[in-house]
Order: sequence, then structure tokens, then C-alpha cells
Amino acid sequence: MNQKPIVTVGRKLPDRVLARLAQSYQPRLNSDDHLYSSAELLEKAQGADALLICHTEHLSAEVIRQLPDSVRIIANFSVGYDHVDTAAASQRGLVVTNTPDVLNDATAEIMFLVLLGAARRAAEGERLVRNNAWHTWSPTFMLGTQVTGKTLGIVGMGRVGQVCARRARGFDMRVLYHQRQPLEPQQAGAAQFVASLEAMLPQCQFLSLNCPATAQTHHLLNRERIALLPDGAIVVNTARGAVVDDDALIEALLSGKLAAAGLDVFNGEPANIDPRYRKLENVFVLPHLGSATHETRDAMGFRALDNLDAFFAGREPGDRVV
Ligand code: DGY
Repeated sequence: MNQKPIVTVGRKLPDRVLARLAQSYQPRLNSDDHLYSSAELLEKAQGADALLICHTEHLSAEVIRQLPDSVRIIANFSVGYDHVDTAAASQRGLVVTNTPDVLNDATAEIMFLVLLGAARRAAEGERLVRNNAWHTWSPTFMLGTQVTGKTLGIVGMGRVGQVCARRARGFDMRVLYHQRQPLEPQQAGAAQFVASLEAMLPQCQFLSLNCPATAQTHHLLNRERIALLPDGAIVVNTARGAVVDDDALIEALLSGKLAAAGLDVFNGEPANIDPRYRKLENVFVLPHLGSATHETRDAMGFRALDNLDAFFAGREPGDRVV
């Protein structure tokens, strides 16, 4: 290809990523960073060679079928790719890539931030101070749940889950994990594999969801499984909202079955999250900040560009998922 390939970009990218993108490609940018409708994305894709999108752009089978033939690769600026209908992409012969590894540390930091925030009632306490409603200190004032030395269960010991497990050692936590297959011992470290989720849950004072959103993990945390957790357990989700049945989680938070939850991701985010979460004092919430550091967002962009570079140089992209 003599001309630089045209890349339709879904969202505003970090400056350093944009600068590198412009060196090798003709970027078609989203200047005000609004969320493209499917129709708008399809229009912007006309004549483009590639799409560079985030998890905010949903590429359903219907949208993928309507993409122009010129588009040959979808490079995701995300590790998760549940927003892309991979079967439809594969049927059309499109290449799809993601950005693994580079966000493990940042996401594990947010996992511990929401875990600690939920356990130690951080947002509630902050609201008291900010609203000038803090009037006392007493031995029984705003007591939370101690984290140190407790048992943490991790559902999905992929790259992020493994970093969470290592960070948990800093809090002297016992770590259990569940997924389909056990890890090699050097990857699992001190974390113990539990073959059945149902057998792991009763042991988890803290439960962290770190699995991808798939048909198999949809509403994985449901009413029956929450019932298996010890009373007063704390659930954290930094994976995807779809892994949780909101009605079941909210019921358990209201009844006191669960002491708290720490959530960075939601069904229907951002505009249509369950409004009950906004009112619950025992939920510590963040707006999907798992990978939101300068360092990590640059690294995600560079990783997406590495994949595009490989593809347009006729090589196999390192992070090809389809
Ligand atoms: C990811 O990379 O999947 C993060 O959730 C941000 O999109």
C-alpha cells in the first residue's frame, strides 16, 4: 500500500498515541470525543482500512455486516472485546485485536481501591467530611471490615487476576481462585485453585470478579451463588457489569447478607446503570477507571498501534483474537 492506511478512531486518544498514529496512518478522528452511534461509526468507516475503537463502541453482528469492504482490521483499545461480535467479524474475515498485559497493574490497583473503599467505608466517610456532617469520633463510629489476613476468592485468574493475587499478599490474605483449569504453579504462586465455584464461595470473605464477559459468565454472580458466600462478605467487580445479576447483588446489599460491594463496572454503563446503586451507602463506586492512568492508556494505545503496524506490514498482529 503506497498511501498511509486510513484509520477511523472511535474516541479521543492520548496525545502520545495520536502522535504515533499520525506518523504511519491517516487518522480519521472523533474531535469532540462524543460516543458515535452505529450509523455514525459506519459513516466514518466508509473508505477506511481499519477501525481503532474502545469498549464503548458496540460492534454488533448487524453493524459488522454493514462495514465497508475496505475495513480489514478492528484494533481494540481494550483488553476486553465483548463489545465486538467476534463470530460476525470472523465470518467477514476481519482481523480483531485487543491490548492485553499492559493494563494488569493499573486494573489490580483499582481492584484494591474498590475493595478497600468498600471494606473501610471510604466514600461514606468522605461524604461525611465534605458535607460537614462529621460530628463525632467514638469506638463504634463508622466501623468497617478489616482486610488484612482475610480470604480472597478470585474468579478468573487471567493476567489481571494474577496481579491481584500477588498484591493480596501485601495484606497477608489467603487467596483462592476459580476458573476452568488450574494455572502452572509459577503463575499461581501461593493462590490455591478451587475446581468448583460453589465450593470456593463459602470460604470467601472477599470475592473479586476478574473474568471476561462471555455467554458463560453472564450473571455468573447470581442469587444462588451470593447465598453461598459467608454473611458479611464483600464483592468487588472490576471486570464487566454483565458478570453480575444486579437485582441479586442489590438485594443482598440491602438485606445485609453482603456487607458491601466495590464496583468499577456496571451493566448499562455509563448512562443506564441501575439507579439503586447511587443510593446504597454500602457500595463504593467508580466510573470504569480500571486502566485509567497516563502510563497505561499510552501503553494500550501503543499496543493497539503495534497490532495495526504488524497487520499493515503483512505480519500476524501479536494480540489477534479473531
Ligand atoms: C478494557 O481494556 O477492557 C478496560 O475495561 C477498558 O476498556
